[in-house]
Amino acid sequence: MRISGNKNAAVHAVTAALLTAEDCRLENLPAIEDVRYMLDILEALGVRVERRGSSLVLNAAHIHTFAAPSDLAVNLRASFLVMGPLLARFGRAACCPPGGDIIGLRPLDVHLAGFTALGAQVRREGDKFVAEAPRLRGSRIFMDYPSVLGTQDVMMAATLAEGITTMVNAAAEPEIASLAEMLNRMGARIRGAGGHTIEVEGVKELGGVTHRIIPDRIEAGTFAIAAALTEGDVTVEEGVPRHLDALIWKMRETGIQIEEDEMSFRVRRPGPLRAVNLQSVPYPGLATDLQAPMAVLLTQANGVSIVYERVFDNRLLYVGELRKMGAEVATSGTTALISGPTPLVGTNVRALDLRAGAALVLAGLVAQGRTEISDVYHLDRGYEALDEKLRSLGAAIERV
Ligand code: EPU
Repeated sequence: MRISGNKNAAVHAVTAALLTAEDCRLENLPAIEDVRYMLDILEALGVRVERRGSSLVLNAAHIHTFAAPSDLAVNLRASFLVMGPLLARFGRAACCPPGGDIIGLRPLDVHLAGFTALGAQVRREGDKFVAEAPRLRGSRIFMDYPSVLGTQDVMMAATLAEGITTMVNAAAEPEIASLAEMLNRMGARIRGAGGHTIEVEGVKELGGVTHRIIPDRIEAGTFAIAAALTEGDVTVEEGVPRHLDALIWKMRETGIQIEEDEMSFRVRRPGPLRAVNLQSVPYPGLATDLQAPMAVLLTQANGVSIVYERVFDNRLLYVGELRKMGAEVATSGTTALISGPTPLVGTNVRALDLRAGAALVLAGLVAQGRTEISDVYHLDRGYEALDEKLRSLGAAIERV
């Protein structure tokens, strides 16, 4: 299975185009709704978006508004990422609290405190947050939480600030290192991205770039879990194993065999699965986006597994749907206790968000009979051709 371009890295990269008047060419963008939503927002700001072959060229030479339209910004969480670049380049940015999955309280304090530390005035105006500063000034910033989008918003703002910004307790996800690499090739001076302290030396302006989106580690993980669940033998290509250390470690603990290469890995299940305990935490820990898919795998493991969601405060809602399929799962707060193995049975269930939807697809692959999943638009937001890809591996899955 060949993995597509990374959903989150893609939506991050398109906003970086706002930092320059020159062309930014992006390759390996996945064909998913979240990218389309993000491009709608950029076009509404005045960015020219042009498809050239398999790549997309963005040009932000003629921005005509610094406010993201609220009717578009509510489509996804990443819309708030227009703030940092607009503020840095034009001295003014506005966006309403963004949309995204309902997986808990998703505050914006890390973004806003970062802008304020760089010298911006931040206020609420109608439904929007507005940030203003004639020129940002570099500063030492402690991020209260290593927020992924918060780190990127502030990092992009700091690229054009005067002087040096040091971000302490920054998020370390591979998507951040990838964005920093793109920005550096645009002329930014960023050091340490991918670690927890990032230093940004402000420059006067940034130029164009050609940038390839990294593979989607969550899609790769989802296929790895699908292979393990169905006792398949799947080689995940372009699924960088070193971005999935925590998942591979946990899957091996359940008894799954994984052989790694630099840019691919092979997943096989030699026998019964063992129950394990896991917690989702910021990178390099186990990704919260793989917590629900792993919980499905653990319904098939011998014994009681404990799954502790530590990133979002409401990301176990899918458990109710899994129970409808026969899973034995008890929850308390952000912890789930899964007893297995339990045979799953097909029934009508609902995708409540993107990763919860993926978890139900995985459950459907091993359930007895037919599983009907509604609200699959959630899946289209983040997985490129999930049904087709699974079909090509032998799954009986159909979009109706
Ligand atoms: N948080 C704060 N203050 C903030 C921002 C976040 O306290 O200002 C807290 C949140 O409440 C949450 C935690 O930080 O408890 C993590 O949130 P984070 O900001 O890191 O998440 P995000 O940047 O909004 C990105 C991904 C998510 C992924 C998380 C965690 C994008 C577009 N989204 O969201 O992806 O789950 O990081 O890794 O990059 C998904 O792909 O399905 C998805 C939800």
